[in-house]
Amino acid sequence: MKDATVGRSHRAKIAKTKLADVIERSKKILGIPSDYVLGIVPASDTGAIEMAMWSLLGERGVDALVWESFGSSWASDCKGQLKLPDLRVFKADYGQLPDLGQVDWNRDVVFTWNGTTSGVKVPNGDWIPADRQGLTICDATSAVFAMDIPWVKVDVVTWSWQKVLGGEAAHGMIALSPRAVARLQSGAPPRPLPKIFQLTKGNKLIEGIFQGETINTVSMLCVEDALDGLKWAESIGGLPALLSRSCANLAAIEAWVAKSTWAGFLAADPATRSNTSICLKVVDPAYIALSAEDREKHVKSMVSMLEKAGAAYDIGAYRDAPPGLRVWGGATVETTDIQALLPWLDWAYGEVKSQF
Ligand SMILES: Cc1ncc(COP(=O)(O)O)c(C=O)c1O
Repeated sequence: MKDATVGRSHRAKIAKTKLADVIERSKKILGIPSDYVLGIVPASDTGAIEMAMWSLLGERGVDALVWESFGSSWASDCKGQLKLPDLRVFKADYGQLPDLGQVDWNRDVVFTWNGTTSGVKVPNGDWIPADRQGLTICDATSAVFAMDIPWVKVDVVTWSWQKVLGGEAAHGMIALSPRAVARLQSGAPPRPLPKIFQLTKGNKLIEGIFQGETINTVSMLCVEDALDGLKWAESIGGLPALLSRSCANLAAIEAWVAKSTWAGFLAADPATRSNTSICLKVVDPAYIALSAEDREKHVKSMVSMLEKAGAAYDIGAYRDAPPGLRVWGGATVETTDIQALLPWLDWAYGEVKSQF
């Protein structure tokens, strides 16, 4: 933190160099194609994905894929806020993926790479054709740096600093393919855009955004933390090391679930199991036989017991998801910490079960 340019303008040369460094290091670690642009934009991942939807959608029909809370928000904004006249929403329940074969690739497609609130990810990009006509717009905030993103299959990818690299939350990141840039430059979207969503001026990409000239003021403290995370990622071996750390975390939980009498994965298909937001449900028949109210009460009680014991924090399922537990298994998490947690989960379940 001694190097942070706090107290300096984010437009000072020294600060702009740091912002550009975030962009360049991210591109290099992630292997983003050289013809893609990467920018730092306001309002974290939500800002980045909303900016993409508001700036790009409307030229053609849109297919939105929904299988948990965040994807559902984007689809609901496509309908209620953007009021897209030609929108199809393909929806699946928590634990499942919608039928990806239903997508019409002449249309634009909005989806989440990893559904953070259900622990279900798309297994790969094989379902996305290289010769698609529409754009793929992907919220990948809990996937980037922990899952293999086939960049040529995604035209817009967004993420935040605080997710897999565990930095301080602030601005978001947005990567754009040449086709996404061409769409942006093809004419104004059919709606007014606030300044913090504007990526073009007079139908020309604002190049500066992709070189560290942010649209508005950014926290240089957060920038320093983002750089620290990126340098750490480089120091441990880059993307392959990040991926393998996160996958080892899922593997530790998989080994425990295989022997567990009460815990299972919310993700129905092992190929779609998230290695970052690892979502668990209780599968013990004695628990399933309880009323919905009691099931929720007992999981809440486990969560609070674990917190009181100092064994796990914020481990309850997301507020819109079915009752369960959620373990963050991103690349910054040590597998030994996950392994140390697992006996505590058995302890907490044993405690609540004794009250059935
Ligand atoms: C898939 C997904 N999308 C969007 C968000 C919102 O991100 P932010 O708070 O960075 O705007 C989250 C946060 O957890 C997320 O997991």
